Amino acid sequence: MRTLITGGTIVTAEGSYVADVLVDGETIAQVGTNLGAGGVSADEVIDAAGKYVIPGAIDVHTHMELPFGGTFAKDTFETGTRAAAFGGTTTIVDFAVQSKGKSLREGLDAWHAKAEGNAVVDYGFHMIMSDVNDASLAEMDALVAEGVPDFKLFTAYPGVFYSDDGAIFRAMQRTARNGGLIMMHAENGMAIDVVAADETDAGHTDPYYHGVARKPIFEGEATNRVIRLAEAAGVPVYIVHLSATDALDEVRAARDRGAMAFAETCPQYLFLSLDDLGNGFEGAKFVCSPPLRPRSHWPELWKGLVKDDLQVVSTDHCPFDFHGQKELGRGDFRKIPNGLPGVEDRVDLLHDGGVVGGHFTRERWVELISAAPAKLFGLYPRKGAVAVGSDADLVVYDPAARHTISAQTHHMDVDYSCYEGREVVGRSDVVLSRGAVVVRDGQFSGRKGWGRFLKRGTADFARLS
Ligand code: URP
Ligand code: ZN
Ligand code: ZN
Repeated sequence: MRTLITGGTIVTAEGSYVADVLVDGETIAQVGTNLGAGGVSADEVIDAAGKYVIPGAIDVHTHMELPFGGTFAKDTFETGTRAAAFGGTTTIVDFAVQSKGKSLREGLDAWHAKAEGNAVVDYGFHMIMSDVNDASLAEMDALVAEGVPDFKLFTAYPGVFYSDDGAIFRAMQRTARNGGLIMMHAENGMAIDVVAADETDAGHTDPYYHGVARKPIFEGEATNRVIRLAEAAGVPVYIVHLSATDALDEVRAARDRGAMAFAETCPQYLFLSLDDLGNGFEGAKFVCSPPLRPRSHWPELWKGLVKDDLQVVSTDHCPFDFHGQKELGRGDFRKIPNGLPGVEDRVDLLHDGGVVGGHFTRERWVELISAAPAKLFGLYPRKGAVAVGSDADLVVYDPAARHTISAQTHHMDVDYSCYEGREVVGRSDVVLSRGAVVVRDGQFSGRKGWGRFLKRGTADFARLS
């Protein structure tokens, strides 16, 4: 099957130009001007005049079917990747989980079983380590060789995913040797639990106090600590879901002194705020960790994206229904399952808020949502590029289309939207995954099981500091 995409403006991290793209099978075969007139034939022609042609977006932080807070994140690999495709995301990297007392292998096998035959776009895995011991440390090397080269550890969630500094440092030392990357959820979970208990003892049980207890300074402290540990171990470290200026200051300072420190933020920290956690129990819809911050943090985060102190925008997609799931925490905010839906909305929110909103260029937009995550997570130039030989993961994007985000029309399997009623400018018209059209004009044309596991390379770009 050959598909010719004609007359679009190719937008990559490097620049923009009008050209045609020929897709042959699963990869890009040619990029050039007037390919049709030059004798190139195709089975299908897609007219992209007036539209952008961008590399499929890559979301390196999702949690499909994550067991958490006494329940499971609602989207499966089928529903979650389908929603991703509607939003122009053609690759996800999800977090497989090592449960306490179990091996990394058992966790990884379980995630392969969830995804294989179900995902509609390509996927990879990171590994959550919740039990660092001699056996799990030895397993890390094998995972790197199998294309799962990143390990997420937590200074948060005592009793669940939490690791102490010694465990984190041991995992870092091992990763420094095996070529992988350490990802850190950096909040001081021990201190947070003290404040959270104080608040509930004082009768402050509403979702708002989730935001009060998880102070920005606790994120700043933990971010500094894990970066310092990573510097001592000589390993690159990537701070996930950075939300607060306190943490951004630490990342910026580390990068200024030449540390191999990287960070992502997520749309919820750019568009939503602590105010959303108010309004009684409705605020449960916005409970995630780190929590939403006061609006005063927004300008610094946008600036961080412009200045490359933040390299990636991912979603931390981890959806729980309001009814029946978030409601587990009525009367005690500590029992609300943590996480927000968002895999479908990221590309449009960042286009609307970032490009249309005048924060950065369309090229930087593509870099943040596609090229940079591809580079940092061992996928470039197979993904994240519009280049001959790259996978034909492509989005014909209409930068002028307006639509309103709503749970009534989104495709994520969750009963609310954090962005209900927000109008955004920009929308994915046609989405191709490895050469196959999976979404066209709001209709799904892909298939369950089309998505393949991506064996990823090591974090070589992260080591070039
Ligand atoms: O609230 C969140 N972020 N839920 C998902 C788990 C995590 O910490 O990433
Ligand atoms: Zn986390
Ligand atoms: Zn997460």
